[in-house]
Amino acid sequence: MKHKSTKWHAAYIQNAYRELERGITRRQLDTLQIDATGKKVLDVGCGPGNLLVALAADVPERLIGVDMDEIFLLFGRSQIEKLSEQSSEVPALMRAALPTLPFADETFDLVTCFLVMPHVPDDRVALVELARVLKPGGTLAISGHGFGFPLRYLKRFRLKPLQMYLATLIYRCTGKKWIRNTLQNDKKMSDILNSIGVVSEIRHYNKRVFGCVATYWIKAIKRETTPNAIQ
Ligand SMILES: C[S@@+](CC[C@H](N)C(=O)[O-])C[C@H]1O[C@@H](n2cnc3c(N)ncnc32)[C@H](O)[C@@H]1O
Repeated sequence: MKHKSTKWHAAYIQNAYRELERGITRRQLDTLQIDATGKKVLDVGCGPGNLLVALAADVPERLIGVDMDEIFLLFGRSQIEKLSEQSSEVPALMRAALPTLPFADETFDLVTCFLVMPHVPDDRVALVELARVLKPGGTLAISGHGFGFPLRYLKRFRLKPLQMYLATLIYRCTGKKWIRNTLQNDKKMSDILNSIGVVSEIRHYNKRVFGCVATYWIKAIKRETTPNAIQ
């Protein structure tokens, strides 16, 4: 499927790179105590490459970003070319989508997947795939939106927040994502991770809106032996 560049792409890229310049992206990694130095790293749903640029500063052994959106990948490549001029670790970008990643089992020391869970067809299946490509003892870091997220946009957009709540409800009841923009409960995401042998270590939120989490981050470590192997 060919993608067309939209106003949303332009706005997302502008905001993502502004956050990168202001050090917000780095602080998110620091909050989760993530250091990519010397590691094999995969960023899934890398968008325009903003997190890759931040991770490259650590000089990982290998750094790969995948996304399903050609427009973001195109922009990401142009940013990465600038990076190579500054001779830091140059990430490789490729087109791929959850729930099928084109990598062998247990390839990476660190897998990041920020703000992608709202869009994957099935949360659990996506997490199992992320865990599959992670080495035992490796780190998985994910983030997504909680129930407070749409409340931020109530004044500007009326329909979008309603759509998100409805899509989340439909997903909970039927297991189908009607639109790929659902909200997650971070405790439930941690429970899924624990059940597949990836133990949640740090959970972090930004400010709550009316008591509800807007954005959550989870850092989790893949057990050396999976629950099935223990039995
Ligand atoms: C909100 S953006 C997040 C981009 C970046 N990770 C960040 O933190 O700024 C969501 C990204 O996930 C990608 N995406 C959505 N569904 C995906 C899937 N099933 N597999 C891989 N990437 C996906 C989108 O193309 C988009 O680039």
